[in-house]
Amino acid sequence: GGLITLDPGYKNTGSCESAITFLDGEKGVLRYRGYTIEELAEKAQFLEVAYLLIFGELPNKEELAKFHKDITDESHIDEEMKKILDGFPKSAHPMGVLSSLTSALIAFNPSTVDVSSEKEMYHAIVRILAKFPVLVAWTLRKKKGLPLDYGDDDLGYVENIHKMMFKRPSQTYKKNDVVIEALDKLLILHADHEQNCSTSTVRIVGSSHAGLFASLSAGISALWGPLHGGANQAVLEMLEAIEKDGGDTKKYMAKAKDKDDPFRLMGFGHRVYKNFDPRAKIIKKAADDVLADLGIDDPILEIAKGLEKEALEDSYFVDRKLYPNVDFYSGIIYRALGIPTEMFTVMFAMGRLPGWIAQWREMRLRGEPIGRPRQVYTGATKRPFVEVENR
Ligand code: CMC
Repeated sequence: GGLITLDPGYKNTGSCESAITFLDGEKGVLRYRGYTIEELAEKAQFLEVAYLLIFGELPNKEELAKFHKDITDESHIDEEMKKILDGFPKSAHPMGVLSSLTSALIAFNPSTVDVSSEKEMYHAIVRILAKFPVLVAWTLRKKKGLPLDYGDDDLGYVENIHKMMFKRPSQTYKKNDVVIEALDKLLILHADHEQNCSTSTVRIVGSSHAGLFASLSAGISALWGPLHGGANQAVLEMLEAIEKDGGDTKKYMAKAKDKDDPFRLMGFGHRVYKNFDPRAKIIKKAADDVLADLGIDDPILEIAKGLEKEALEDSYFVDRKLYPNVDFYSGIIYRALGIPTEMFTVMFAMGRLPGWIAQWREMRLRGEPIGRPRQVYTGATKRPFVEVENR
């Protein structure tokens, strides 16, 4: 065959052209459709950002209202889905449950599979934007032993997610603006990040013309790993372990630098950012604000700040350009919002949903070919078969 260029981990290989997210890792710049992440996190709402990512423009009032209405019209889930959730043990990791339920949804929404026109895509897109928050809420409610409930179509998209997650059977739900704003901001900051592991997975699965939901289910599985979205859970578990261990950050810094120790400083480093992750900057400030607003004094925030300070002054981290990434401070906010640690990556998936959808839609509309990387073969050369009794 022809000459194959080998690039493990695709460090220098572009898989597609894309007009969705711009990222400059050297300068620490992130923009969705040309709008800076700083401005969007400050001024926009998650549903507007979802529309922007998917369709390319910020919606006007009427477009946003129609989008929200189309979503709320689809916000029910077939009751049979509850039986599927019922089959999981309470101890199941929510990411496995979420991926399975997303896949199971296909059986109840077969019209979302074979889509190729923009209209058919729109139909599949509003369906998943409507039903995914219910699945997210149900995975949490399953863990907590709360009854599986639906949302309230009169609420904003993010407020409704929060209500579905936390509403207690015998209490009226009360909106807390600080909590909803923090959640909205976190979801926006996670909404897209160009061709990362889970997004590339969504595109490659979708490139075989498997449906949107099947592609998303695969993306959720990719996000689960601790080197990717699973890092937010791993960060918090690391911070808790350090706290239990007497808050000795120096000891963990030494472990992270020790090449014989597999331990890594979770929430540090990034394939593309060789500078501050702009999302981490926003989240660090948000963590301070949210904890102050909610009157929470969390010793774990101090440990995180201590680790960050030490790392930024340490030649190991400086030389390798390892900075805090999006996952370093997000868990501290999730924790302050009462979200269990095992649910952190599910919240990341909720945020990343519009990005995955936008990338899938772009890939299909551009008529991209099936994703099929090549390899450099390193196995045995041709050899004769040996019968089992002669081996
Ligand atoms: N702690 C200690 N050393 C590290 C770390 C870390 N967190 N990250 C990278 N390094 C070292 C690594 O050992 C290597 O050193 P050397 O050159 O001496 O062999 C060098 O830095 C380059 O690392 P790499 O593993 O070759 O870089 P990569 O681009 O393949 O990996 C990464 C990027 C994010 C997987 C990695 O930095 C990492 O494992 N970080 C911790 C997990 C994490 O926080 N992941 C979240 C990523 S951000 C958003 C998301 O996807 O969720």
